This record gives sequence, structure tokens and C-alpha cells, in this order.
Amino acid sequence: MNKTNLWSFVEKEFDQSKYAVNETLFALGNGYIGTRGGFEEASHFGGHDGTFINGFYDYYDLSYGEKYQGYPDKSHAMLNVTSGKNVEIDIKGEKFNLNNGKIRDYKRELDFKKGIMKRTLKWMSNQGDEILLEYERLVSFYEKHLMIINLKITPLNFDGEIKLYSTLDGDVHNILKEDDPRIGVEFEGDELKVTQTELDHEKAVIHSKTKASSLGLCCLMGHIMNEDMCDIHTHQQNNQLQHIFSIRAVKNKTIELSKPVIYVSYPISMEEQAYLQALAVLKAVIEKGYAFYRIEQEKYVAKFWDNSDVFIDGDDKIQQGIRFNMFHLLQSVGKDGLTNISAKGLTGEGYEGHYFWDTEIYILPFFLYTNPAIAKKLVDYRYNLLDQARKRAKEMQYDKGALYPWRTINGEECSAYFPAGTAQYHINADIAYTISKYMTATEDEGFLVEKGAEILFETARLWMEIGHFNQDRFHICCVTGPDEYTAVVNNNVYTNLMAANHLKEAYLSAAKLKETYPKDYQNIKEKINLSDEEIETWLEASESIYIPYDEERGLYPQDDSFFKKPLWDFEESRDKHPLLIHYHPLNIYRKQVCKQADLILAEFLLSHLFSQDQKKRDYDYYEKITTHDSSLSTCIFSIMANELGYYDKAYDYFIHSVRTDMDNTHKNTSAGVHTANMAGAWLSIVFGFGGMREENGELKFSPHLPKHWKEYKFRITYKGRKIEVTVKQGETTFALLEGKPITIYHNHQTVELSQ
Ligand code: BGC
Repeated sequence: MNKTNLWSFVEKEFDQSKYAVNETLFALGNGYIGTRGGFEEASHFGGHDGTFINGFYDYYDLSYGEKYQGYPDKSHAMLNVTSGKNVEIDIKGEKFNLNNGKIRDYKRELDFKKGIMKRTLKWMSNQGDEILLEYERLVSFYEKHLMIINLKITPLNFDGEIKLYSTLDGDVHNILKEDDPRIGVEFEGDELKVTQTELDHEKAVIHSKTKASSLGLCCLMGHIMNEDMCDIHTHQQNNQLQHIFSIRAVKNKTIELSKPVIYVSYPISMEEQAYLQALAVLKAVIEKGYAFYRIEQEKYVAKFWDNSDVFIDGDDKIQQGIRFNMFHLLQSVGKDGLTNISAKGLTGEGYEGHYFWDTEIYILPFFLYTNPAIAKKLVDYRYNLLDQARKRAKEMQYDKGALYPWRTINGEECSAYFPAGTAQYHINADIAYTISKYMTATEDEGFLVEKGAEILFETARLWMEIGHFNQDRFHICCVTGPDEYTAVVNNNVYTNLMAANHLKEAYLSAAKLKETYPKDYQNIKEKINLSDEEIETWLEASESIYIPYDEERGLYPQDDSFFKKPLWDFEESRDKHPLLIHYHPLNIYRKQVCKQADLILAEFLLSHLFSQDQKKRDYDYYEKITTHDSSLSTCIFSIMANELGYYDKAYDYFIHSVRTDMDNTHKNTSAGVHTANMAGAWLSIVFGFGGMREENGELKFSPHLPKHWKEYKFRITYKGRKIEVTVKQGETTFALLEGKPITIYHNHQTVELSQ
């Protein structure tokens, strides 16, 4: 039986039919640059290779048959940028390509410990000349502007000429929209225009500018060649710049070429500085060489694993799957406070590179409890968008407050379909929820004073704009909850509960600031013109929130009207998933059918508000009518199944979640990985099997060992402590690895931890 690699994802035989999916799975990134796993040589296996810069986008006009107030005029999408991966190998006049010749000993590997991608193979040309090829590729965590390829070629049975054509290509385009609304953009195709090129023996340079978003990109290619017997030429055809190496190759003597490609993006006015910066990076890379960056890469990744690794003894595929997911999250997340993590990370063009609520409810908790410094950058990002959110609230005709966009890169709302976009006001509450969690877990009061309070207050105001009091209860109408198969409803339970939580947090934060930082509190109030009366209304609304409930059945309806609708015919739609691409939305909205966890998610996030019996009844009901057409669903069902003691179900949902991309279960991994689900798989282990809850500033665990496992282990960073939790049959061990003593709870009993 084949042994599963626990620290890498491996393709043992080249499989043409999986090329596009593998472009995603073998993608590399560092949160700034992301590049798909396409081969260095030109290949024709039906993929769509791409390289992306986080936050680098262009606009396109949105067109509506009927346009109303507040509909966005424009959307924006992450651009596919200058391509620097191509290296063609010519052996005595014949080009290396996997379409031709004979392949032996093929192996491609994404190495989670080294943070690189490797490919090795032996290839025999039609003329019978055989070479050993050893590729390594990395996108550097040490130098964020750097992608570097290292290629070794060894002639195995011949002497003769080998030519290498290494290209920097400025003619790139995005995938255009076809049938699936989740994939492709409405660009014209020439958004990133090359404005200037430069080519000499040391480097190739392509400067490009976006058509409408006033962004520029400077891309440089250089080389480090170990071979003296080598002639170098340059060649340019339109926007393709080439260095051509002619080498007199000798049998069994390895030729080594490193190809650094430097990307520096900039606001248009900073062109000169960006160019100088890129030149400096290239110079440093040429001096230090590939080995230096490879070592630094491993060091960076080792630190990440030291904080976050999850160990599972009992199922290698799951062990591999969870590490694969965590590694992709690290590769995808923006770490500069100006960028975030998109639904597909930097691995593909699905959802146009947009950031969603996925960040706050799924992904941020993973970073918060493992690498809080990264979590800080994600909360900073929301602060940096606060002005845009205020602007959006005005566009939507609200007098006060801030409304965060449903989907965005630069802070502007990009959702053209308001029922499943703008109407998801819960994004404000999700951000507030996570900011509160961030502040508790990091005790970063500076953030509350400088940024957090302003976000909490401005976003809280919006509930008072859209909600109203009716018979002393606070109602919120015409919103869409997380479940996108029910839209524009009144009193969605998730939204109302999260809004009430948000209003209360805002009220309590105001009280805390007033007491501990009175001067800053006064400054914020003056800055946003906030009155004491307004703050009082937050508490009032929060405490009188209206939550629909069906007394007869003892169930929460997802919203006011949910139980008045007929059930969906699941038999009829058996082969039509996801429903969203087979049915008109109204036909879905009229029925009781859920795309994803909604009420069940509320019962996880605000667990303390519900009794176990209630959770069980709701779970039993909603499970039957949820399609899990969104990849954000199964992990939440897994967590709640664990809490309710449905251990087999918990495991099944978890399995589905943990290998969604590796096994392409949603059949759309070619458009990019599902980052929220990847983090959701981690949540399923820590909050699900580990039973972790954070309540009132305390960590509580009620672990369960799945019957298929002998042991599992995970690490949590909380209030400056690093805690390792090990769960075995009949035994849970907590070890305080770093930080001062702390009290935690294990199955409701206190445990004092000290090192
Ligand atoms: C889900 C949303 C999610 C989006 C991006 C959709 O399928 O329904 O909840 O935000 O994907 O991941």
C-alpha cells in the first residue's frame, strides 16, 4: 500500500486530466505573491496558469438592466499579472515537453516543511537523449517580493547542446465569465497594460499599469547560472522578454540555473521608488543565491509549524489534509494590514480575489489562536477600510455609521447581486464579534483605543439605522443571513443575535474606555460625533432584540417566514448541485432549503445562549434541509455534532471538510482552494473534537477522541501563553509551553497550568 506523506502533497505520476486542479493544489504564495502550480515549460493540458499579487486589482463596470440607488457602479477583480515562470529546455533541437518523449521517475511535491514545490523527472527525447530534471520553486516568506525557481539539468546519456529559453511575459489575461457566476470576470482582457520594457544580459524588466485603478507593477527577471561554458543572448518579441542560454552540456554534469522574479506593486505615483526597490531586491538575490532563500524559507515555516501544527495519530490522509490546509492558509494570508485573505487565497481566480466574512468567522480564529501577529494584520485591514465603510453607509442612504462591503478588495462594495450580497449586513456583526475575540485573546488594549472602538461604534450605529422598535422589541428586516438560499427576510436569527451581541460589545467597550482611557474615549466620541444617548440605545436594542421562535415545535425558524414555506424537494434535485447553478434564485428562496449553516452557526458562535436540548432539536431539523452547497457548511455541522455527541456524524462532516480541495469534492478546486473551509477544518479539530470554547475571557475544553484515532495534539496561543493539548484514550494532557501560569477548564473543572 502507498504510504501517505505526512508533510507534503505528492503527485507520483503525471496525470494530464488533473492538470488544472493541480495548478491550484501546487500553488505557492507568501501572502503577497501567489502563483499557480503550472509547469515551467509550455504545456497544453487545459489549465489556466496565473500569478497574482494580493490586493492588486482593476475595475470593471457593472451593468444592470435596471439600476437602483446604492447599486455599485463598478466592481474590481484581482489581476493575473506578469508571468515569470516559463523556462523552455531545448535538447539538441528538440523541446522538452510532457506531451512528447518518454517520462520516467516523475514526482511533484508540495513540501509543507520546506515551504517549496519540487518536481523531478527523467525525460527522453524522441531522438533518445535522456535528461534528469530537478526543479524547485519558492515564493519567499523572507523577501516578500521574490519568487525563485531553481532548475538542475543533468544529461544522462549524451554530450551536446542544451538551450534554455527563460521568459518574462507581460501579455497576461484573466479568466472571463462564462456559466458559473463564481468564476471569471467581466474584463475586456487588456487591463494590465505594459508601459515599458527593458532587456539586457543581467535582467529583463516589465513595467505595467492597470487601466482604471491607478496601480503599477514592476517585474524583474534575472538569472544565476553555474555553467561557464555558456553563451547568453537576449530576445524580445512584443512583451515577451527572453534570456537564452546555450550550453555545451557534458554527460552526467549538472547544469544549475536559478531564476529570481521580483514583483513590486505600487500606487502609480511611486513608480521610480518601486523600480529602485525591485532592482535592490534582484541585486541582493543574485549576491545571496538560491540556497540562502531556501534556508530562510524553512526557518520561517518551521516557526509557523511550531505555533500551529496539529498532530493526528490514526489517519494519515487526514494528517496530511490538515497540514495542507494550514500551509495554504499561511501562503494566502495578507500580512501587511492593507490586504486580507480571499475566498480562494492566491491560488486562483474564483470569486475574483475578493475578501468576504470568511475572514472573520472562519479564518481569523485560526490565526488568532496560533499566530496572533497575523490576526492583528487582518483586524488592522478592517480599520484601514473604515472610511470606505462609512462611505458605503452613505451610499446606502444611512445617516450614520459604517457598512462593510459584502465582497471587496479595496473596501468598495463589489456585489452586484444585492439579495445574496449587500443584504448580508451580518458582515458588520461578524467583524465586531471577531474584534472582541481578538481583544480578549491578545489583551491588545492599544488596538481597542486606537482602532477597535471606532470600528465597533461606527458599525453598531448601522443596526440602529436599519432596525426598528415594534412593541418594545427590536426588529431587523430585509436582510440575508449567512445561508444564501434564503434571502431578504425579516429577523434572521443569526443576524439578530449577532447584532445584539455587537451592540452589547460596543456598549461595554464604550463603558470600559470611559473608565480606563477617558481622554481617548472623549476623542473618539468627538471624532465620530457620538452621544451618550446613542450609546444607551445600543444596550436597549441589544436587550430587546426580537428572536422568532416556534413554541409548538420548540425550534428556531431561520427567520420570521422560514417555517411558513414548503420543504424543498430533495429527491427531484438529487443530481442538481449546487442548486444555485440549476434553479432560479426565487425558486430556491421560496422553499425551506439551506445552502449552509446559518442558525447552527449562531448556536456555535453564541453557544452560551442556547440549551443543549435546543441545539439538538435545531440540529436535527436543519441537518435534513441543508445541502452544504457552500464549502463553509460542513465544518460547522461537524463542530456542533461533536458538541451534541453525534460523534460519527462529526467525523464524517470533518472528513468532507478536511480534504475538500485535495479530493476536489466541490468539483471547482481548479478555480482556487476554499480558504474558509480550510480554516474550518482546523476549527473542527480544535472547537469540534477539542471542544474548545472561549467565554468571558477563559478557555474551556471538552475533548473527545474520534474512534479512528489513537491520539491528537494541537497548540493554542492565548493571552501570551502557548498551550499544547494532547488527547488520548481516557486521557487529556495540557502543557503550558510558554508564558505565565493560567487557569483553564477541562470538562467544567478548573486546571491550573504552569510551565
Ligand atoms: C458562501 C458565502 C461565502 C462565499 C465565499 C459562498 O458560496 O455562500 O458564505 O462567503 O462563498 O467563500
